[in-house]
Amino acid sequence: MIYLKTDEEIELLRESNLIVARTLAEVAKYIQPGVTTKYLDQIGEDYIRSCGAVPSFLNYNGYPASLCISVNDVVVHGIPSVNQVLKDGDIVSVDCGAYKNGFHGDSSYTFRVGDVDEKVVSLLRVTKEALYLGIEQAVDGHRLGDVSNAVQNHCQRKGYSVVREMVGHGIGRHLHEEPEVPNYGKKGSGPMLKSGMVIAIEPMINMGNRHIMIERDGWTARTTDRKPSAHFEHTVAIRKGKADILSSFDYIKEVLGDRFI
Ligand code: CO
Repeated sequence: MIYLKTDEEIELLRESNLIVARTLAEVAKYIQPGVTTKYLDQIGEDYIRSCGAVPSFLNYNGYPASLCISVNDVVVHGIPSVNQVLKDGDIVSVDCGAYKNGFHGDSSYTFRVGDVDEKVVSLLRVTKEALYLGIEQAVDGHRLGDVSNAVQNHCQRKGYSVVREMVGHGIGRHLHEEPEVPNYGKKGSGPMLKSGMVIAIEPMINMGNRHIMIERDGWTARTTDRKPSAHFEHTVAIRKGKADILSSFDYIKEVLGDRFI
């Protein structure tokens, strides 16, 4: 069943999502060659707690960290590690969840580390564009398949492939609620979107083929062809006419300045 949130609940969701947005920006300040992903996780966890929130991912189904930090060919769910040192030319997806006042926020952004190959920068740009094209479809009276199709079309038209095994999700009192939000699908298919539904849209887009494997840690999702993958995520409330984006990349933009994509 898909829960409809009241306006008051949506404001609480916005508060949690703004904590996530500010956490991503705080982490962004430290992203550079030489830092470990474990260090970034500590920055993120400390910031989330300083806001009076709790990291949503920590201990979720046994997940051992506060952020998911996924480098290059890791699609999502990379576990922060002291052994993973960022280097010039890497891309790094930082996925963050925060829980406060009974509601979760969830958003992610893929950053560049130093100078990144133009081809990989295009992958980032197209994935982020696809996210916003999906959000444009996330309005009352449309179907979920319209969102999925917008994301898939844009990425495939540019020659990239869409990960199937992992999807976006409803979000609210639980990190993962119904409905599942695939990044592929047919226009006019799936559940009808209604004002008050809140979903996390999170395209996971590969430079090579769509196939992934889960590593033996039970979490790390990596492309089988070892080519790079990008991931951007917003939490949005369905409304009449235009979705309300509850998370935000504005704080990241302030930190990155003209390096913001
Ligand atoms: Co999510």
